[in-house]
Amino acid sequence: MTFSSSCDSGLISNTDAWRDLQDHVDEIFGMHLKDLMQDRERCKSMIKEFNGIVLDYSRQRATQCTFQKLLALAKEANVKEKIEAMFSGVHINKTENRPVLHIALRAPRGVEIMCDGKDVMREVWEVLDKIRSFSDQVRTGTWVGETGKVLTDVVAIGIGGSYLGPLFAYTALQTDPEAAKLAKGRRLRFLANVDPVDVAIAINGLNPETTLVVIVSKTFTTGETILNSKTMRSWLIASLGPSCVAKHMVAVSTNLKLVKEFGLNPDNSFGFWDWVGGRFSVCSAVGILPLALQYGFAKVQEFLEGAWSVDCHFKTAPLEDNFPVLLGLISVWNVSFLRCPARAILPYSQALQKLAPHIQQLSMESNGKAVAMDGTPLNYHAGEIDFGEPGTNGQHSFYQLIHQGRLIPCDFIGVIKSQQAVNLQGELVSNHDELMCNFFAQPDALAYGKTRVEACKEGIPEELVPHKMFTGNRPSLSILLPTLDAYTAGQLLALYEHRIAVQGFVWGINSFDQWGVELGKSLATKVRQTMHNFRTKGESVCDYNYSTTFMLNRFLQGKEKLLHSATWLLVEGFSSLRTKCCTSIQLLGALMQVSRCATMHLCG
Ligand code: F6P
Repeated sequence: MTFSSSCDSGLISNTDAWRDLQDHVDEIFGMHLKDLMQDRERCKSMIKEFNGIVLDYSRQRATQCTFQKLLALAKEANVKEKIEAMFSGVHINKTENRPVLHIALRAPRGVEIMCDGKDVMREVWEVLDKIRSFSDQVRTGTWVGETGKVLTDVVAIGIGGSYLGPLFAYTALQTDPEAAKLAKGRRLRFLANVDPVDVAIAINGLNPETTLVVIVSKTFTTGETILNSKTMRSWLIASLGPSCVAKHMVAVSTNLKLVKEFGLNPDNSFGFWDWVGGRFSVCSAVGILPLALQYGFAKVQEFLEGAWSVDCHFKTAPLEDNFPVLLGLISVWNVSFLRCPARAILPYSQALQKLAPHIQQLSMESNGKAVAMDGTPLNYHAGEIDFGEPGTNGQHSFYQLIHQGRLIPCDFIGVIKSQQAVNLQGELVSNHDELMCNFFAQPDALAYGKTRVEACKEGIPEELVPHKMFTGNRPSLSILLPTLDAYTAGQLLALYEHRIAVQGFVWGINSFDQWGVELGKSLATKVRQTMHNFRTKGESVCDYNYSTTFMLNRFLQGKEKLLHSATWLLVEGFSSLRTKCCTSIQLLGALMQVSRCATMHLCG
């Protein structure tokens, strides 16, 4: 990628602090991590602790001097002032003219957070109290379904930020003994993809009588979510009749007008606000409602408290001790100076298996930008490609490339006390210790590598030596949490949220908009119309390039072969309904629903 250099005087790259770092890169390229790791003072200065979390960034390709320069860059970029502006409700999301106040979602009662001349905390706690009351009612069976049965299962419909963060938190707590006890007898499923296969997965084994559907959409206009909501509504009504919607469907949105138009009672909806970005909305009703239904409000409050503890640290800690600031600067260094385009997120905890997918959206949708806040094209790289898997699974998948292929900075995340203790007699270590052996071994393997001499000393045949050598000098950082519970999951979430904001603050971009997802969406609208016209009026495909026309035709003409699956649905639907409907009128109404579903399958 080449960068233009015109009209870019306002960019951070035109500051002495940036140039100083650029000049420093060659010095760092001349150093090897295995030498840097010999310096105990350096390592000591790069291990920090905050509220039970240990951050070790000594395996970054950086010296103490690098960090001084990075901190100077942070000052030049007014990071401190930008943090303050964020917490004070300034409209820092300039392209959408909105404040960025997700921190208010986890502030305790009594804290004042001003936004446009108004303290937002009253409304925040109004919604939280409503969630507490509703989730208590559902969990205790005070709020029951259409046939009087307790609603034990929840399907949360939503996509992107209305799905990934809640899924991360849900999964993190699923195996926490305390949370699991609170969730006993309950199921929480997520339905995100517009692929009807995802509907089938979400409802597999569920009984409409005991299922509550929570529609989560900030805008309430997202195509996937609305279609999935209509599908789930049909599924409920086919069994329970139209009046069931009031008891079996609730919504979370900022757009309560559209919620009402969808046919939901506004009393059954949970609001949030424009000042919460979709991917930063886990701590709003978006995440808190489904999580409270599953684990109970008190448990979820611990999650909010964990996040808030990091918010306070982020706001008040000096830059040099500030975890999100340090983490953000490390990313800026790796991406913009060492030119590493990607980052691997490697939690050594299976319960954190959904951390990487959440961070993918959080980071890539926030910082995948090419222009500065004022529209000036950047002349440096911003954003990073995030991916990851829990260790040790990742080790048997993509670590090869990380060890001997491309330079990918890694985040290793481990916990001291596992959610599950297994200690087999006769084994050298417990199962969790076994996992953590890898957590400690991998960063050093990446940093030190293996030289030709070392390989030869091992007696490796000469022709295999080049294949068994490791360059080392591969950067990573390690985060060690005391355990994984609701509180620390909240801390982890906030650490990454603020880290990503810091990166954006330094790069001078707007990390809080996402215009880049719009183009694909609008092109899909055109395709939708084309498909409809083909299927209903036999109109041919036109107005596309050769390739799209060819592929669309192949798809549209090939679909007839799949008609049998819709017929199957109709038959299945009929036989299951026959057993449920007492009167022929009921049966007819329900059949109409089923045939609507079938038509949907045929055409869609
Ligand atoms: O993918 C774009 C996006 O707008 C995300 O930012 C957002 O999290 C997601 O779609 C879902 O949006 P909504 O919550 O409005 O349905």
